[in-house]
Amino acid sequence: MTDPLHAELLGLAHEAARRAGALLRDGRPADLAVAATKSSPIDVVTEMDIAAEKLITDLISGHRPDDGFLGEEGAATEGTSGVRWVIDPLDGTVNYLYGLPTWAVSIAAEHHGETVVGVVALPMRGETFSAVLGGGARATGAWTGERRLTCRPAPPLDQALVSTGFNYVTKVRDHQAEVARELVPQLRDIRRGGSAAADLCDLAAGRLDGYYERGLHPWDLAAGDLIAREAGALTGGRPGERPSWDLTVAATPGVFEPLQRLLEDLGAWHD
Ligand code: IPD
Ligand code: CA
Ligand code: CA
Ligand code: CA
Repeated sequence: MTDPLHAELLGLAHEAARRAGALLRDGRPADLAVAATKSSPIDVVTEMDIAAEKLITDLISGHRPDDGFLGEEGAATEGTSGVRWVIDPLDGTVNYLYGLPTWAVSIAAEHHGETVVGVVALPMRGETFSAVLGGGARATGAWTGERRLTCRPAPPLDQALVSTGFNYVTKVRDHQAEVARELVPQLRDIRRGGSAAADLCDLAAGRLDGYYERGLHPWDLAAGDLIAREAGALTGGRPGERPSWDLTVAATPGVFEPLQRLLEDLGAWHD
């Protein structure tokens, strides 16, 4: 039976993701412009990223005023309830700016530091992914209906389809390009979807064999990491570690270790 707290957090995460997704989908200005840049000139933020984060934090704190928040667009409060929400209001801002459909609203809830609920909504795909710690991962979608998620059986590494992403900081990005160049001949192929949260959900849904990236923040991966793990994927960072800014690796069992070893051999987290 689901823990009543987890059930409440899951319901709230679904509602917040649904409303923020609708705002982003229906409220996108035709002349959407870059509002500001962050770590580099290609690290952009729009008024819609900020509006979506405000909608989510207002909605959740209206129901649970004592919870804390960590959001990409600035939400950062401790709270007193033991629950903290880790939010990427718009994961895939560059896709959104260009009108590409792969962008997501990612909302996770931690209880005493452990992620217990994750919801990722992909409004343009009409899909929502969710997971509760120990309760499995699920998806609802116009295309696929409602279903429980399991990642796909492992192929040999040279037949694996692996997604990745590139950080906005030039030095990190240059190194990632070098690692990717070494990796491509050793895999079936790579993908660059443009949303870390969507990549992790696609792994959970059996549409990818693996995913890795350097330079992710907690809000990029909190919900997707739980969804991938609850679908049976293994997730980690550098060998023996949890995903971090240095490295996130996620893959179906059987691909995870060889991929992590290969990334270690290629020095994926060195400059
Ligand atoms: C980015 C996306 C992208 C990943 C970047 C992230 P944002 O998030 O997840 O796929 O490669 O590392 O920063 O800025 O669009 O929320
Ligand atoms: Ca961003
Ligand atoms: Ca992000
Ligand atoms: Ca974002």
